[in-house]
Amino acid sequence: IEGKGYPSLLDDDWLWGGDVENIQFTITHGIRNTTHPEARYSEMPRFGADEILEKPQISEVVEYVLKLSGQDYDAALAAAGEEVYLDNCSACHMEDGSGDINQGAPNLADAIWLYGGSRDAITYSVVNARFGVMPGWNDKLTEDEIRAVALYVHSRGGGQ
Ligand code: HEC
Repeated sequence: IEGKGYPSLLDDDWLWGGDVENIQFTITHGIRNTTHPEARYSEMPRFGADEILEKPQISEVVEYVLKLSGQDYDAALAAAGEEVYLDNCSACHMEDGSGDINQGAPNLADAIWLYGGSRDAITYSVVNARFGVMPGWNDKLTEDEIRAVALYVHSRGGGQ
């Protein structure tokens, strides 16, 4: 169903779009697959590793993400974290945390996690960023096979 860093294909939570055409495009070209110019591509900044945010700001924004995702959080830190979030995160993850399919930016508010929703896992995501890669299948499968796989995935994922 789901491994760390590998999204579930059975739910309604799509990183790059869950209609058949988008699924087919993703399978064909891959994600952050440097060997293919049309691959889906986006990159979250490494807020800690590249010193874009200071340590206290990272703790604050992590508490705010815990709040957005309906988990236990420290109210004082989260209140400060809201501003950090709006300044640094909402352009990709949206103000309400719902994410952006055009950038493959995951929904942070739905309690479905690609890399883990614990305080530690979120902190790791903010400090180092993640860079999930999927290969493209255009040189391994025929177009008909890719279409068939896309239809299959779509039939199991429902929704879009
Ligand atoms: C330029 C766009 C962009 C910005 C700005 C950005 N992110 Fe992200 N974020 C992404 C993308 C894209 C991913 C998915 C990376 C992947 O799949 O490897 C991601 C992943 C995450 C994850 C992992 C989610 C999961 O399901 O495990 C967390 C947590 C997160 N971001 C929090 C933040 C926070 C907090 C900020 C602001 C400090 C931020 N992001 C700013 C694009 C962005």
